Amino acid sequence: MTASHPPINSKLPEVGTTIFTVMSAMAAEFNAINLSQGYPDYPISEELISLVHHYMLRNYNQYAPMPGVPFLRQEISNKIQRTIDRAFDADREITITAGATEGLYAALNAFVHPGEEVIIFDPAYDLYAPSVKLAGGVPVHLELELPNFTINWEEFESAITEKTKVVVINNPNNPAGSILTEEDLIRLTDIAERYDLLVVSDEAYEHMVYEPYQHQSILKFPKLSQRAVAVFSFGKTFHATGWKIGYCIAPETITKELRRVHQFVAFSVNTPIQMALADFLKEPKHYLSLGNFFKQKRDLFLKLMEGSRFVPMPCNGTYFQLMKYENISDLPDTEMSTWMTKHHAVASIPTSVFYNRKTDNKILRFCFAKSTDTLTKAAEKLCKI
Ligand SMILES: Cc1ncc(COP(=O)(O)O)c(C=O)c1O
Repeated sequence: MTASHPPINSKLPEVGTTIFTVMSAMAAEFNAINLSQGYPDYPISEELISLVHHYMLRNYNQYAPMPGVPFLRQEISNKIQRTIDRAFDADREITITAGATEGLYAALNAFVHPGEEVIIFDPAYDLYAPSVKLAGGVPVHLELELPNFTINWEEFESAITEKTKVVVINNPNNPAGSILTEEDLIRLTDIAERYDLLVVSDEAYEHMVYEPYQHQSILKFPKLSQRAVAVFSFGKTFHATGWKIGYCIAPETITKELRRVHQFVAFSVNTPIQMALADFLKEPKHYLSLGNFFKQKRDLFLKLMEGSRFVPMPCNGTYFQLMKYENISDLPDTEMSTWMTKHHAVASIPTSVFYNRKTDNKILRFCFAKSTDTLTKAAEKLCKI
């Protein structure tokens, strides 16, 4: 049907269907094993499901307070006290959001005014640049340096102009599987202070950092967290990406502005899941066991892939394993992933899509948050390529 309406001047003309949707649809069409999109294919905790049910039956089904259920915010504060020994005020510094997605959108839209620049490190999660553009800002893309996807701090400092307002970091990094070290955060503190920058720290994969490394949350660095919003995802932490619930931690003055946006994007997040998560967070092993759980999956996937012609890149965090395929083909990565889905029945994500310049390093991203059976079957197919 042709709709009759005035012309709409697209604010995001370059945005199409995301690669994650495209690859998942292709995986379904060709009956391929889907290691493309980042979500688990195994069940979540039954205890957590029972808790949601419990609160639904007890009538926790109406609007939650705009910043989030106080019980959950308090349990988040307790968790941070327990894990990094710092106190954050549940009322003034913690906000529950509709996934890390809404937290990131609200933070960027609270900070960025038209014409202001935001530095983003590619490969980057695909949400940052469109959120900056919707705020009228200008994304400035720098590329992480291979082989370990490290930040070139000199290049970062020279990219700062008088218009630079914010820098976005993603630690651990999706898709790279790389992490920031303590030295990185010290360098960032120094530069952010000297140039008076705000920092948005996407820590959706905070609990997926593998020994011998430890997650360096921005919250561990008092001078840096004074000028930052740290963003987290319960969907990732509790294997329930479909629940779309996360939270932001920021100083009171920043939180006030963030909530002004959150109030008119989501207003509040669903009540029974907030109540259930608050109960669930009381047991630290529910989140502290995650590193080991995913390390085993990563190691299993790597072992199963030992006989293949793919070359694994270092993965110290997230549930994504990058693989180079230059021993197999010189196809561009978008064509390679399509060809593999159609002819070898395993779907992956080409990493060029995470680059503003579509940089093609001939690397594919595989999600290993899958059952042993799925990983075994996928690796069997991949080893034949
Ligand atoms: C780096 C990163 N940040 C944020 C998100 C979004 O998290 P949520 O599902 O909680 O909105 C994702 C989801 O894949 C992600 O990979």
